[in-house]
Amino acid sequence: MRLDIISIFPEYFAPLDVSLIGKARERGTLDVRVHQLRDWAHDVHKTVDDTPYGGGPGMVMKPEVWGEAIDTVVGDGSPRMIVPTPSGRPFTQELAQELADEPWLLFACGRYEGIDSRVMDEYATRLRVDEVSIGDYVLAGGEVAVLVMVEAIGRLLPGVLGNAQSAVDDSFAPGSMQNLVEGPVYTKPPVWRGHEVPPVLLSGHHGNVARWRRDQAIRRTVRNRPELARELDPGTLDKHDRKLLDELAFRVGQEDVAN
Ligand SMILES: C[S@@+](CC[C@H](N)C(=O)[O-])C[C@H]1O[C@@H](n2cnc3c(N)ncnc32)[C@H](O)[C@@H]1O
Repeated sequence: MRLDIISIFPEYFAPLDVSLIGKARERGTLDVRVHQLRDWAHDVHKTVDDTPYGGGPGMVMKPEVWGEAIDTVVGDGSPRMIVPTPSGRPFTQELAQELADEPWLLFACGRYEGIDSRVMDEYATRLRVDEVSIGDYVLAGGEVAVLVMVEAIGRLLPGVLGNAQSAVDDSFAPGSMQNLVEGPVYTKPPVWRGHEVPPVLLSGHHGNVARWRRDQAIRRTVRNRPELARELDPGTLDKHDRKLLDELAFRVGQEDVAN
């Protein structure tokens, strides 16, 4: 997969040299190219921003600079363009999977009050453009959001995770973990500072372990992410799931928590 990232702070992307993503780059699974936006600014100060039309605080990134940068990086190709912004569609595991299936992504990192909207309008006429938010809070720039997205997407590429099953069992994974977060995990020793590992995990009984893990995932989702648990597909719930949800006095669907 090819990833182009345009930013006024290319140095933010040094972490993409390490760990799983760094190894994927070394192996050639990921071809990451980071570009300095200011290379396409022509005045002596390499200006990339200007005051907003309509007034108000802050500055807006200039369309001409972005236009030249994107034209050069894209050439005759057609990457999917991702613009991080708190006003975008939410970045989810489902979107990460969808983007992991693309051959080429282009990330445009905004700063200040964001990029002049005409840039997105212009490229939407020839590329697929998605404005994407990584959460309901405001960062100072798109760089950290892009790091988050690249890591989430990169670990889904074939061969990047040592054990491909890890992604299947993750929180939010499609299938049995859809709308569930993962429960607690443990390793050796069996007792640490008086805290014991749940005995079922030492039993060697795969069926009981799987059942316990699912129970824990349901309990944790109900406790920490009730809005997700409410969206559980009733068709995916077995008798035991329903009993547990009753015990927790939790109803899936549109209805609210019973108490
Ligand atoms: C200070 S923010 C601009 C916020 C903008 N005035 C608003 O309220 O929507 C500057 C840049 O940070 C990035 N950014 C901030 N929060 C983000 C989030 N939650 N998700 C993705 N990108 C974000 C975007 O690239 C944005 O253009």
